[in-house]
Amino acid sequence: MKKLWDGRFKSGLDPFIEKFSSSMSIDVKLAKYDIQGSIAHVKMLGKVNIISKNDAKKILHGLEEILQEVSSRGLKYTPADEDIHMAIERILVEKAGKVGNKLHTARSRNDQIALDERLYLRSELKEVSELIKKLQATVVNTAQKNIDIVIPGLTHMQHAQPVLFSHYLMAYFNMLNRDRNRLKDCLKRVNIMPLGAGAIAGTSFPIDREYVAKLLSFPAITENSMDTVSDRDFILEFVSCSAILMMHLSRLCEDIVIYSSEEFGYVELDDSICTGSSMMPQKKNPDVAELIRGKTSRVYGSLMTLLSLMKSLPLSYNRDMQEDKPALFDAVETVKACLKAGAKLLENMKLNKKRLEYVLIRDFSCATEVADYLVRQGMAFRDAHKLVGGIVRHCIDNKKHLSDLTYLEFKTFSNLFSKNILDFASPNSSVKSKSSPGGTCLENVKTQIEKAKSLLK
Ligand code: ARG
Repeated sequence: MKKLWDGRFKSGLDPFIEKFSSSMSIDVKLAKYDIQGSIAHVKMLGKVNIISKNDAKKILHGLEEILQEVSSRGLKYTPADEDIHMAIERILVEKAGKVGNKLHTARSRNDQIALDERLYLRSELKEVSELIKKLQATVVNTAQKNIDIVIPGLTHMQHAQPVLFSHYLMAYFNMLNRDRNRLKDCLKRVNIMPLGAGAIAGTSFPIDREYVAKLLSFPAITENSMDTVSDRDFILEFVSCSAILMMHLSRLCEDIVIYSSEEFGYVELDDSICTGSSMMPQKKNPDVAELIRGKTSRVYGSLMTLLSLMKSLPLSYNRDMQEDKPALFDAVETVKACLKAGAKLLENMKLNKKRLEYVLIRDFSCATEVADYLVRQGMAFRDAHKLVGGIVRHCIDNKKHLSDLTYLEFKTFSNLFSKNILDFASPNSSVKSKSSPGGTCLENVKTQIEKAKSLLK
């Protein structure tokens, strides 16, 4: 098939290589943005009389028609279309006639693709941010619903100290908030208008880049044409932010996989988000959590793809860069799906209070409370630590829990113990006492929740 660039070629493109070099089937996602960019470009060409106002008008008509078609029935491309830019230009010429050939004046596909990707990412980035916000709201709701339930807080996967489940969940709120802030910052660098860089050097035509930026709602234009056509930092940055976000989701999901296991039994997932086994009738699997955990690796994969793609690329544009799209699109779709699924996961999770009470009585997560008690009676913390270690040893040797010990038994370890030690060594009083800023006491968590709510408004 005739190519829009084949003036200097004697023979046509090898059919296999034609297929090999086409990115059309992937580019279709960019159709809307490519046309929007062309609309702004042609308006500018007409405004500054690089092409006649009449020609600009005809081209504009054609582009608007294509835009409508794209939004109603998608783009009709052919296998011979090399990429989205060529496809739309071909359709334009079919519709508007030869005048369509003037659209590409003072523009290259190198600055055009940078524009398309920036427009696409700007829109998707806002959507991802909204989805993070929704998940944050679900986190807050779930925390509020379970505000006073105590769970064993874990370090090294061992029972450490009792914490409120709501406090635990609000930890994820904080992570997600950093994710959202990172994206907000990333947007600053996505939201810069590249058109006008041309192929590499800019253009000799009297273009008005600021006008194009205004038409497309960009607050600024890029400053160096070579950087503009060879830069994919804005994509790398988005995918890096996404990788960190997915890491957070994967940790939440790992927690849920563990907490919903037979051995832990802290939470139960609703049937609507679990599946069974084709062989083992008793199985109920936490698939959603496992899938989010698994899909995290896809986003990491995208990040690695993009970093390797850009590594050592000589300036400026190189065709290698066409390969950025599958990685970017997959990261965007994966992150969006996982954020939605993550919210469903939390909405369909119930805490098993009985089980939690049972395990909290049996662990030694209040041992630090006993040591702190002795410190308040004047003992040095290191000495108290050692002494309470002895009490724990005694319990293990005698198959007892801390809560089984009587006041008199405590007394055999130190005269500093009074009767009220029995009140201190419980999960509830442990949680209640953690009133240092950022600690797990109920008042603190309530404050966190209030702050979170006003942040989400
Ligand atoms: N399809 C290319 C890409 O995705 C843009 C076109 C640049 N091609 C060229 N031959 N200069 O990066």
